Amino acid sequence: MDRLKMDYNHMMMEFVGKAGISTTDLDALAFQAERAVRAMEEKRQAGQMDWRDLPYQSEEILKDILQYVSEVKDQVEAFVVLGIGGSALGPIAVQQAINHPFYNELPREKRGGYPRFYVADNVDPERLSALFDVIDVTKCLFNCISKSGSTSETMSQFMIIKEMLEERLPKEEVKNHIVCTTDAEKGNLVKIAKEEGYRMFVVPAGVGGRFSELTPVGLLPAAMCGIDIRALLAGAAEMDRRSKEPNWRKNLAFLYGALHYLAMRQGKNISVMMPYADSLKYIADWYAQLWAESLGKRYDNEGHEVFVGQTPVKALGVTDQHSQVQLYTEGPFDKVVVLLGVEEYKTTLTIPKLYQDIPSLGFLGGVTQNQLIQTEQMATEYALLKSGRPNLTITLPRVNEFMLGQLLYFFEVATAFTGELLQINAFDQPGVEEGKNATYAMFGRPGYEEKKRELEMRPAKKDCYIL
Ligand code: PA5
Repeated sequence: MDRLKMDYNHMMMEFVGKAGISTTDLDALAFQAERAVRAMEEKRQAGQMDWRDLPYQSEEILKDILQYVSEVKDQVEAFVVLGIGGSALGPIAVQQAINHPFYNELPREKRGGYPRFYVADNVDPERLSALFDVIDVTKCLFNCISKSGSTSETMSQFMIIKEMLEERLPKEEVKNHIVCTTDAEKGNLVKIAKEEGYRMFVVPAGVGGRFSELTPVGLLPAAMCGIDIRALLAGAAEMDRRSKEPNWRKNLAFLYGALHYLAMRQGKNISVMMPYADSLKYIADWYAQLWAESLGKRYDNEGHEVFVGQTPVKALGVTDQHSQVQLYTEGPFDKVVVLLGVEEYKTTLTIPKLYQDIPSLGFLGGVTQNQLIQTEQMATEYALLKSGRPNLTITLPRVNEFMLGQLLYFFEVATAFTGELLQINAFDQPGVEEGKNATYAMFGRPGYEEKKRELEMRPAKKDCYIL
């Protein structure tokens, strides 16, 4: 069976020197780590980590999704996700990992008969308008995804699209072009969906946005692109099985968290995620939200100010060897670099034996691009080692649904465990809420009058600092 592998040799002091972690550091963490292991288990038992049970969600939900996909997929040219943050990053990451890199440009039969796939996650007017240049809204299915059902960005897109549909289609047809994924009871979207008769899928109440990829938030878009959602869940279940290992030194997700926690204690407040596969490029985006929103916290569980977290940085191997690796090897000792590698790529490409008389090109002849990318990954690992920079390597035997399920679930468990070590709440996002509330107040939304007054009290900007 294919299994995710983690190699943390180069996190250790015996390899990277004083910037690394010693076995004594790990030994000294035992009390905290064992407490974190117990907390993980207790919270799961108490129903405070519902996302951990997603690999085993009911057959009824899966059948419902697959049935719906088989009913609608042939009727639309494109499937468009309206969502942001946890309601967009997972769907993008999974689709990009599994499907052809130029999926939308392929003829329909080469897409397995599935519609084209777009995600409108920002509110940049230029981008949304540009989307309308390449889709015919009357031939699309729009999946409005919002757990809270009130996120301004998503709801603004929804309103724009709903009006367009109403202008272009007979009233009774509009509802065939909208499917909502939201909470079963709370928020505006569920009310709208019920009143206006939209098909609806439910985000389980106890699962937060960034942990929601294995709910209909991610499963419906994935299935709509022909992705095997049962294999995705089977992969997550396999990682859940491995994550039940009670010895944290043998549990790869716990150890990932422990190593990052110890690195943070040494002031390494940057977490670089560097996949060596274009298919995994957007996993780095998804990870960035998971790691940043979950661990970037002002207060610990006791209410003390701690200001913790690691800033996630996205890099792509080998592309960013030519842009960021200079900094990683010679800049400040403030990072942990995670190299995300693949053993077997979906295809093999051999470089022809040209220019054999030019030694600096001839050596490439007959080599595959697969060997080149993997060798460059090893070379970066070596460059980091040589410059004493802690790094670890996660390897997937191949990129498929089963491995992706393992990878997503691995990072989720690792994040939650790191949160336990930091003794913070990894599942809230008060900083995000603050920005959302300030937006509402600036627009004069009823109920946000006090926030508006608070905003009006902010210091006025000085002209002398504006050039
Ligand atoms: O992780 C989170 O909770 C957030 O990033 C949300 O996913 C994001 O703000 C979108 O929220 P919603 O799904 O409620 O529209």
